Amino acid sequence: MKVSVFRKAQFNAAHRLHNPKWDDETNRRIFGKCNLPNYHGHNYVLEVKLTGNVDPETGYVMDLGILKKIIDEEVIEPFDHRNLNEDTAEFRDLNPSAENIATVIYHKLRKRIAHEFEVGVRLFETERNFVEINI
Ligand code: NI
Repeated sequence: MKVSVFRKAQFNAAHRLHNPKWDDETNRRIFGKCNLPNYHGHNYVLEVKLTGNVDPETGYVMDLGILKKIIDEEVIEPFDHRNLNEDTAEFRDLNPSAENIATVIYHKLRKRIAHEFEVGVRLFETERNFVEINI
């Protein structure tokens, strides 16, 4: 029997959606206010889903304290209160859309979590807009 456990976290960050291959008019037309030059912020809410077998010794899939520490180190520490475009290596050349942020987070977490677990990432950019990765 596989069981999924979840851990939520939050970080605040600024970003700007911009494709340097396009001219300014095209960027404005495609990205609208998200392309405004001086950035804007979001209160991102992250949900990490871990699926695996329950360890008969602990009764846990994974100690959520360990998952919290991994999320803190891989996501909160480097991204919280940052300008994603300017302050992070990951988004220097990658448009920081919710889709791309979730993908980066997925890969950062995946490399810290044993392969016997499935990892899912859901990232809320606003209460109504969110993306999900399940592999
Ligand atoms: Ni935005």
